[in-house]
Parts: sequence; C-alpha cells; structure tokens
Amino acid sequence: MDAQFYPTPPDLAARAWGKFKNREFTRVLEPSAGDGALADANPRERDYYRRNIPIDCCELDISKHPMLRAKDYDVVGVDFMQFSSGSIYSHVILNPPFANGAAHVLKAWDLVWDAEIVAIINAETVRNRCSKERQMLGNLIDQFGEVEFIADAFMVPDAERKTAVEVALVYLRKEANVAVDIVGDLLSDLNDDAETGAGLAGGYEEVHALALPNSFVENTVRAFKAAVRTMREAVFGEARAHYYATLLGDTMAVRNGDGGASKPDTSVKWVQGEIAKRYSLLKDRAWAGILRSTNVTSRLSSSAQQRVEKEFADIKKLEFTVPNIYGFLCGLVENRAAMQLEMACDVFDLITRYHSDNTVFYKGWKSNDRHRTAGMKIKTTRFVLPGHGTHSYQHGLNYESTRLLADFDKVFAMLDGKIEPEVSLVQTFSAHFADLKHGARVSSSYFDVRYYPGAGTIHFFSTNRKLVDRLNRLVGRHRQWLPPEGAKVSDAFWLSFDSAEKLDKELRTEINNAAGRSYWDHPLHNICSGDEDRKARAMEAIDDAATVVLERHGINVDFQIDAQQPEQLRLAA
Ligand SMILES: C[S@@+](CC[C@H](N)C(=O)[O-])C[C@H]1O[C@@H](n2cnc3c(N)ncnc32)[C@H](O)[C@@H]1O
Repeated sequence: MDAQFYPTPPDLAARAWGKFKNREFTRVLEPSAGDGALADANPRERDYYRRNIPIDCCELDISKHPMLRAKDYDVVGVDFMQFSSGSIYSHVILNPPFANGAAHVLKAWDLVWDAEIVAIINAETVRNRCSKERQMLGNLIDQFGEVEFIADAFMVPDAERKTAVEVALVYLRKEANVAVDIVGDLLSDLNDDAETGAGLAGGYEEVHALALPNSFVENTVRAFKAAVRTMREAVFGEARAHYYATLLGDTMAVRNGDGGASKPDTSVKWVQGEIAKRYSLLKDRAWAGILRSTNVTSRLSSSAQQRVEKEFADIKKLEFTVPNIYGFLCGLVENRAAMQLEMACDVFDLITRYHSDNTVFYKGWKSNDRHRTAGMKIKTTRFVLPGHGTHSYQHGLNYESTRLLADFDKVFAMLDGKIEPEVSLVQTFSAHFADLKHGARVSSSYFDVRYYPGAGTIHFFSTNRKLVDRLNRLVGRHRQWLPPEGAKVSDAFWLSFDSAEKLDKELRTEINNAAGRSYWDHPLHNICSGDEDRKARAMEAIDDAATVVLERHGINVDFQIDAQQPEQLRLAA
C-alpha cells in the first residue's frame, strides 16, 4: 500500500466539513481524494432541497479513479500540483500526504479565487515553521484563518490505517476583491462617456487564426487555454455590464409595470456558477476533438469507437492538459489488444449472425464440460451478407453498408499485420459500383466481391483464406470453443476442427433430422437469435449432431478429455 495513503476516519472527516462557515457549497474540490473517505463525509446541505454537493476530485493514484467515479464524484485531475482550474470552487477540503502538507495547502490557496479551504495536515507542519513554505502557511493562518490541533485522530477504531501523528485542522478564507475583479475600476470606465458607436466597437480585432506548427495535442491545449481565458473575461464582462446597467435603473417598461423586473446578477456565486458551466462545455468540446482526431479512432471499428465514446462521459471531466491527454492516449494503446479482439469478435458476429450458411460448426473444445457447445467457423471460401439493397438511381452503397465494409477493411488488415489494406472494400465499392451493379466480380486486397442490388446481398470470396482462418481461431479461442494457445489437445480434436467444412452438409442433415419439422425452434434458426438461452440450446443440439457425424467417420469424440494433461487444460480454461 502507498506509504502516503491515510484515509480520513469518519469522525475527523465530519469535523473537517464542520469547519466551513459558508454552508452554500456551489462546487467543492478534493485535491488528493484517495478512495473518497473525506469527500464521503460531505454534509449534503448544498441547498434547500438537500441535493448532493457537486464534488470534483484529483488523485495521483489512477487505480482509485473508478471508485471515485462510482461514488459520483467527477475526477478532474491526476496530479494536483499540476492542476490549474481553481476559480470555480467555493470550497476546498483536503487531507494531503503528510510529507507535503504545506505545499498542497499553499497550492490550494493560489488556485482558488473566492473560497474556503479546510485542510488536515501534520501538526508539526504548523507548529514548527522551519522552512519558507511553512512560514508562508503560518502567515496565511495568522491573517486569514485559524487552526485546531487534534491528537490521536487517526488512532480511533474505525481508522482504516492508524498513525499516532497529531493533526492540525487548518481553516482559511480567501475572499475575491469584488470591487476590482468584477466591478472593475468604476471611475476609469465612466470617464469614457463620449463614445460613438464606431468607437465602442473600436477595440475589437478579429482573432487571428492559430498557427499550427507543432503537434495537434499541444495546439489543441493552447486553443483550449485561450478559449477558457476569453470565456472568463466574457463572464466578468457580463457581470460588469449587469452592474452598470443597475446603476442606470429599470427600463421604462419595468417602471410602468409592463415587463418583468430585471434581476441583474453580479455576485461571486453567479460568476463562479457561470464559469463552471461554460468551462465544462469547453472541456467537452476539447476532449471530443481529441477523441475524433483521426489518429486516435480511425483504426477502430465503428462499435469499438462507440465503446470508447461511452467512456467519454468520464474522460471529458478531466482537466484538459497535455499530461492528461497523453495519459488517455496511453490508456488507449494499453487496451489496444483487448480492443482489437473486440473488433474481431464484432466482425465475426456480423458475418455469422444473419446468415447461417456463412458458418460451419465443429465440436467445441469445452464440450466435455458442464455446458456442451459447438464451435462456429466462418467458411473460408465464401460468405454472404444480406441487407445492403440500393435503388437503381444510387451511385454507391448506403452509409451503414459503407461503415460495415470499413470495419471489414480494418479487421482484415489487422489480421494481416497491416494498418490498412492496399485496395480496400470501401474503395472497391466506390470505384466500381456501376460494374458491381451489373454483375461483375471485382477484387480488393482480401476479397473478391459480387453485389446483388435487388436482393441486397454482397458475396465475399476470400482471396487469402489464412486470414479467415486466423479470425476463426482468434474468436474461437476467446469464446473457448478452441483450447488456449499452447495447450496440447489430441489430434482427433484438430481433425474434427479441420474437417468442419467437408462435413458441413452431413452435419446439417443430421441437425435437420434431429430437429424435425419445427422452424421456430430449429437450432440453425436459433443460432442466429439474440436470445442467449435459445442460442445455448442450439449450440448443444449442434454439438450432439456433431458427435453423431464424427463417430460415423471414426473420429473419437472424447478428445476434449485430453489424456495427456487434463488438469492443466482445465486450469488454463
Ligand atoms: C493521506 S491520503 C488521504 C486520502 C483522502 N484525501 C482522504 O482523506 O481519505 C493522501 C492521498 O493523496 C494522494 N496524493 C499524493 N500526492 C498527490 C498529488 N500530487 N496529487 C493528487 N493526489 C496526491 C495519495 O495518492 C493519497 O491517496
């Protein structure tokens, strides 16, 4: 466990929250949140309706982020010492690592604009003002706050980690200088009273386009910072405009009782709330730009992109900084293997789902276990995808069909160890659509294709059967129809696997015989069903039929109980 990780015990946490004098919690920051023990003690007295207080967290240990998010806190940063967006917080509450208590509290002080700060730090840090940092903290406490010392606060029975250290509960109040920050210098503004319309707009210059010499990430962060800065100025400007407008009094309509009373707001609370709202929209835009940048998602299949976008709700709350962006990109790279597997499974399912003729079956490796199941393979010769009809006046496939072909291009290139195919299916369909519509067979890198616009089917003839085989093995292993990589399985198993295409006709006859006349409860129908129970029953029935066929050909179907190493195989599964 991290030597600096000491979750605040509940009593001490409640006492810390009790120190705040302003009980209107607009937005709170917990800059070193750990598992959220201190944040959890929040008094839920945000307002009259007792709605939850919005709490943002930073935490250096990213393994704690999922827990914080699960507790409904927004994770906005990793290293608090690099955090820079503090003006929106009305309160900061912290129990930083004891070794750096003074630095963390000083950072919080610098960061906020108008807020109360409560910190749990080592009593020594306050009592012994031996360093410049400690002196600065001491001066702040003397001028703007107070301190209470508590012995044995971490020795109570419900302390998750005990320590005999005496703590100081520090309270600080930093107040915005409203007159200067928001209202501005009244006199200097009022001197300009002879302005013309042209003069009023005279100070405005169009923003010059940003030069983008460096990398996309650095430039986006630069643009984001510029956007935040000007947004902040705009909100301040609005507050000032409201203020001056009130100096002029109500409009004639309001005075006559015809219009609603104007309610100008120049308060710190309004400014903080407005900046927080607009800041979160700017972050959303900025993160969306990174996500959509071609380098990140272009190689993902459409559903893998959708999955990444789902995580976006959490990502967009992080402060938009260069380290956070690279952290996010590294996470994507680390997950690449898992994402590639998911992409392969998506394409496999697309091919096997809608057309049971695309598939051949084999006796699954796990069949000796409790759940007997057949394995599925895509035919290496040809498969057909329905649902891609076009009208005679169209000059290309529909958007959804093109997206599906793009997914095929990405997955088969990946299986071929390439970034993209030399001749993609998407290019093939756009360049030769007229020929394809008139029945031509056209080649792309991995498939020859034929298109039947009336029936809406595309026929794929594999030109590199090894790649289809690779896809079959990758998905088969993942779904445990095949043994794990490197496990020894009897030759009979691989014989059954390799004979699947040859025995397909015989197996289908056997399945039909066993199923009888029922269409709706037929295994070859149910196998394409979205209902998992039906699918499992179908797999079992197909597995039974495979047993009959294999035995007829003298292939020993007990192969799964491998005589050589049954225990290891079971463990590996
Ligand atoms: C004493 S624990 C307190 C945890 C939490 N605040 C609580 O009261 O339960 C300190 C926490 O600060 C985190 N931490 C240390 N340095 C940090 C930094 N620079 N930025 C953000 N978190 C940091 C540690 O990972 C640890 O979880």
